[in-house]
Amino acid sequence: MTDFHHLFNRPVRLLAPMEGLTDPLMRQILTQIAYDLGRPYDWAVSEFIRVTHYPLPAHTFLKSVPELLTDGKTKSGTPIHVQLLGNNLETMSQSAMTAVNLGASAIDLNFGCPAKTVNNHKGGSVLLEEPEILYAIISSVRNAVPSEIPVSAKIRLGYTDTSKMYEIGQAVKSANASWLTVHARTKVDGYKPPAYWDKIAPFTELGLPIIANGEIWNADHAKCCAEQSATPHLMLGRGAVTRPDLIANIHNGATLDWQGLVPYQLAFLHDDTDNQGGLVGRYKQWLGMLTKGYTEAESLWQIVKKLKTKDDIIHALMQPMHPSA
Ligand SMILES: Cc1cc2nc3c(=O)[nH]c(=O)nc-3n(C[C@H](O)[C@H](O)[C@H](O)COP(=O)(O)O)c2cc1C
Repeated sequence: MTDFHHLFNRPVRLLAPMEGLTDPLMRQILTQIAYDLGRPYDWAVSEFIRVTHYPLPAHTFLKSVPELLTDGKTKSGTPIHVQLLGNNLETMSQSAMTAVNLGASAIDLNFGCPAKTVNNHKGGSVLLEEPEILYAIISSVRNAVPSEIPVSAKIRLGYTDTSKMYEIGQAVKSANASWLTVHARTKVDGYKPPAYWDKIAPFTELGLPIIANGEIWNADHAKCCAEQSATPHLMLGRGAVTRPDLIANIHNGATLDWQGLVPYQLAFLHDDTDNQGGLVGRYKQWLGMLTKGYTEAESLWQIVKKLKTKDDIIHALMQPMHPSA
């Protein structure tokens, strides 16, 4: 079995999969900013793609992960790993193979999704209750795809509580997962702070690379998370959308001020997607999150929230903006 430790010979920094948030456009913008600030993401993980009773066709992958058309990388060269969610061994394995044939450089398996519809169909975090199923899914996909393609897993600490952590870790390890990402909360914790970084530490004894995730909003959090979780490898989620310079700030203290961020917001708004109506909503979603990271975003938000067209929003964005009091 191929060993992927060499990918971890420096602390890796990953952009988290976030369905409806880190879509291909947002991935492109955030990975570009990181690249321009001198600390590119090592990779990003796609939003989950759900696999049910049928193997997914190629076009589903190309729609969700259009980066597959450009060597599996964003414009700035950041690899995108394809994340699958499901519990059907055959269709998961066949779908993983399709993704690999399309050029996916790695497959990640989602065992963290808290969504009711997904959990009711025995997908996502509910599988943490049954480590033997986790094992079966990971090993089935692992055995189906070529050994040089990493197959990783992303989990939470448990479903209702953390009592099955040990069994979950053993299942992931014995299924030969290439590495493991741990979101330091249970499904029941949802997205409520805190994240229990110290609970990640026992997973580092498994002997496979462990990536810590959850509630990293600034460089201090990154430092504490790495210390408490006993792993230097971090995945950044909402914090990376709120402060797109977070990765650079963790790396060497670099920041991107509001004026510096404006061109990237304009690039977002100028995207030539077919879904121009959706673009306005998605930009508003991003701006709403930016209000937590930039005081200037708050003043802009007061204006933009009433605007309906992309042109009006672009016009507002291009006006000089001052930090709100
Ligand atoms: C809107 C949203 C969508 C998410 N979608 C996914 C997903 O598709 N796959 C996944 O593994 N995790 C998903 N997550 C979880 C994140 O990857 C991450 O584990 C979580 O947000 C904790 O990190 P953070 O506190 O840094 O945001 C999602 C989180 C959010 C907020």
